[in-house]
Amino acid sequence: MLPRHYLSQEVFHRERDRIFRKLWVFAGLRTMLRQNNDFITRSIAGIPVVIQNIRGELKAFENVCLHRSARLQSEPAGRRPLVCAYHGWSYDASGAPSNIPLHDELYRYTAEERGAMRLREFALRPVGNLLFINLDEKPMPIEDQFDRSFIDLLESSSNAYDSEVMTTTFRARFNWKLGYENLRDGNHPAFVHPTTLTRNVSFVPVLDEALHAEVAGDLPAGLDTAGRREILRRFSYGGAEGTFKNVTRYDWQSLVERWGDQDSYFNWLAYPNLHIASGDGGFSFTIEHHVPVAPGRTDLEIYWMTAKKRQPYSFSSTVLLSLMHGSKLVVGEDVEVMEQVQAALHDGAPVPRQGDYEGLNKRVERWYVDIIDGNREV
Ligand code: FES
Ligand SMILES: [Fe+2]
Repeated sequence: MLPRHYLSQEVFHRERDRIFRKLWVFAGLRTMLRQNNDFITRSIAGIPVVIQNIRGELKAFENVCLHRSARLQSEPAGRRPLVCAYHGWSYDASGAPSNIPLHDELYRYTAEERGAMRLREFALRPVGNLLFINLDEKPMPIEDQFDRSFIDLLESSSNAYDSEVMTTTFRARFNWKLGYENLRDGNHPAFVHPTTLTRNVSFVPVLDEALHAEVAGDLPAGLDTAGRREILRRFSYGGAEGTFKNVTRYDWQSLVERWGDQDSYFNWLAYPNLHIASGDGGFSFTIEHHVPVAPGRTDLEIYWMTAKKRQPYSFSSTVLLSLMHGSKLVVGEDVEVMEQVQAALHDGAPVPRQGDYEGLNKRVERWYVDIIDGNREV
């Protein structure tokens, strides 16, 4: 990767068009949309999106009114029908205006004009409790992006999430790719997190010889779409990544339905920008969604939840608060390093030298450069 891949506005736009508007990207949690008229809004790859429960059906639309472009929903989340606040147009589950107040007196659209009005709808795919959206007109099958086994793993683990969720956003000053290069780097925790994460978890960095051999050369010649997607599917993976030095149990853990029974640190990475972890072997989960804002700016939208409660208990929000405090320390350590890396970049900065253990990052990098600099389709 060259400095311009982290600095250039033009590269950032190409990423938006060729990666974030082509791939399936995380959009929220199904448990936030359980009741009729529940909605969430987000900006994904520069497009305002609303995901709304319309009589039990989840729909994703461009969050822009067809009349004069006001936002249909203006809050990040809530419960409200899909009605524009500007002049009161309301929309049905197909995205057509179902009511235009004072239509016959003031607007007088022909039946043909009215029949052609439809909000732009996006493909939405729940994977367990996780919602993925695809902004492309002809979305690729999600199975081309994620292996079936990875989808199954996301499904089973996210179905274990409780519906009480705490969220926050960290506004960080680094390029989104640095975050994932760091997450694929098993050699950093011991150095960056000595008194936090690795005080109780050991991560043993491994040098995968087979992967090293595979990524040593160029991409295979004549790679077609199927070949590129085969490589892409290997960017997303998950499982146990660290072992506990001591297993500590907390009272609240007996009040939730643990996911699995393995005392390990779990990580799931879903390319391009979703990271999920369970730092306590399936009793609680953290979702980190890294949202690119500009070449040197990324919003880290973080969600904390425990596994499903067996029944409500009085101090559940305190548990979430303590999970948040714990992971804020760790995330803060990563953010500090990456902001330093970003700050040192300039067009003539030295090009990174990856060692043999960095096969995962090399694999992503050569695919990325092929797409971004080689003008290829995902
Ligand atoms: S802009 Fe939405 S009703 Fe006028
Ligand atoms: Fe880290």
